[in-house]
Amino acid sequence: MAELREVQITEEKPLLPGQAPEVAKTHSVETPYGSVTFTVYGTPKPKRPAILTYHDVGLNYKSCFQPLFQFADMQEIIQNFVRVHVDAPGMEEGAPVFPLGYQYPSLDQLADMIPCILQYLNFSAIIGIGVGAGAYVLSRYALTHPDTVEGLVLINIDPNAKGWMDWAAHKLTGLTSSISEMILGHLFSQEELSGNSELIQKYRNIIAHAPNLDNIELYWNSYNNRRDLNFVRGGDNTLKCPVMLVVGDQAPHEDAVVECNSKLDPTQTSFLKMADSGGQPQLTQPGKLTEAFKYFLQGMGYMASSCMTRLSRSRTASLTSAASIDGNRSRSRTLSQSSESGTLSSGPPGHTMEVSC
Ligand code: BEZ
Repeated sequence: MAELREVQITEEKPLLPGQAPEVAKTHSVETPYGSVTFTVYGTPKPKRPAILTYHDVGLNYKSCFQPLFQFADMQEIIQNFVRVHVDAPGMEEGAPVFPLGYQYPSLDQLADMIPCILQYLNFSAIIGIGVGAGAYVLSRYALTHPDTVEGLVLINIDPNAKGWMDWAAHKLTGLTSSISEMILGHLFSQEELSGNSELIQKYRNIIAHAPNLDNIELYWNSYNNRRDLNFVRGGDNTLKCPVMLVVGDQAPHEDAVVECNSKLDPTQTSFLKMADSGGQPQLTQPGKLTEAFKYFLQGMGYMASSCMTRLSRSRTASLTSAASIDGNRSRSRTLSQSSESGTLSSGPPGHTMEVSC
């Protein structure tokens, strides 16, 4: 860790009454694979892991996670944890474009940078939240450092290397589409892209006009060249911590996440297929994801309902009973949420609990 830079920023963020503004501090550390930038919100809480996020291709920590972490109901959760938001190299705001021929780290090497971050911060345990490529990076990190990962929320994970059919399709698409359109096709469903909502227009604009688009292409190439994570249910090469798999019901990666679920330990894994969320549930359904995250943390022994406000306690009660209906983590749990009905079902078919999303 040769060189460290620190920038102190006070975030503009809607505050709850009586709440002091939280200071965000951006740091860079040097690693064997180049420099990595991350932003820390909040202060370390004794005996609690840090929440560490890793964003997908085409995004940075803010464009990927801000709507979720600034969601009003999320405040009650995150105030109990320090948060470390990693920007993949060259994705941080104002990042200079890498010189031609720059060897961008592989996803495995990005995972190998995480210990440098944790060592610098003197943090020993994390709960990871990753999306797409970021979910892969955090999974790889969890495979190599299982003792430091207490839990993982993996959104849109594809643990498989691209097969030759995928490569052929990718090459064909590359003949007619720009890099930014290909990345948008990775992030969002075709239906969302053709619907061209305000959200799609916003992200299309962010990606197509990104001053660091050349860097983004390098992260994209690393994602497409990923190795197979080779999860084996019941084998040594599997995630040992509680995992919440999340995918939108129309998301481009739905099949991959379903397959991933079949390869993980069913006693440790919850699978949340989110209705009406498109490709990026953390952008389109922050309320539902917040609620699911709360139950996930409660399952891990954090966020006892007594620590929460009366409002969230009453909301949670209905779903805490959901978790207990499902028993003592004896089998995989599938949660499917519907924003239309405002219900969340869990465990054995037929059990449906009210949630206020
Ligand atoms: C946070 O409070 O952790 C946060 C705030 C803004 C953007 C991303 C995360």
